[in-house]
Amino acid sequence: MLNLVIFGPPGAGKGTQADLIAQKLNLIHLSSGELLRQELANGELGQEIQKYQDAGELVPDSLVVRLIENAITKNLDRAGFIFDGYPRNLNQANSLDKFLAAQGLKLDLVLNLELDEQDAIDRIILRSQTSGRSDDNAQTIGKRFQTYQTQTLPILDYYQNHGVLTNIDGRPSIAEVNSQILKILAE
Ligand code: AP5
Repeated sequence: MLNLVIFGPPGAGKGTQADLIAQKLNLIHLSSGELLRQELANGELGQEIQKYQDAGELVPDSLVVRLIENAITKNLDRAGFIFDGYPRNLNQANSLDKFLAAQGLKLDLVLNLELDEQDAIDRIILRSQTSGRSDDNAQTIGKRFQTYQTQTLPILDYYQNHGVLTNIDGRPSIAEVNSQILKILAE
């Protein structure tokens, strides 16, 4: 099994690259943001989730961890996972390591997509014309970046210390970023 995390600020291209890698390597793409949006549409917890997403804050760990663990459990017969937008704080990073270890699995690599805030905001603003996402507006985007800086970015040290972190330049075109990633995975 190959288990990857794709990491980076809002709008860095995590979802875009995770789709391409999952297709190429036959991995399951698990996006916590997407799982929450599905839950929002179908589940009883919809209003609660929307409140956090629209405020640009993290949805409580208890809910997100459960959604991810259920999705992993359903797909243990597959070639591996690419986690997108998860984990997003130290508690989630620890939970993921423990849960994978309990299945005899581990994280192989964390791909950190580096993009500065202004470039990322420009991408999200462009996407907002078609995404239909209620959190793709200037005010929420600002809050999403604050949350990223204070709660998510510190996990990079955790992964650096575990020897699984690799940095990717997120600025080039989608195809170029993808070939950088595939080159790293081939090594
Ligand atoms: P989530 O859905 O994870 O949003 P995000 O992290 O803010 O990331 P985005 O989806 O905005 O961007 P992306 O990096 O995937 O970029 P994309 O490929 O789309 O989370 C939303 C909310 O859910 C959170 O704020 C929180 O409330 C909650 N949540 C989610 N996970 C959680 C967790 N684990 N715990 C608690 N709460 C959680 O690309 C962006 C745009 O740029 C696209 O239009 C794309 O076409 C374009 N693009 C991509 N790459 C390039 C490129 N190389 N060049 C030019 N354009 C590009």
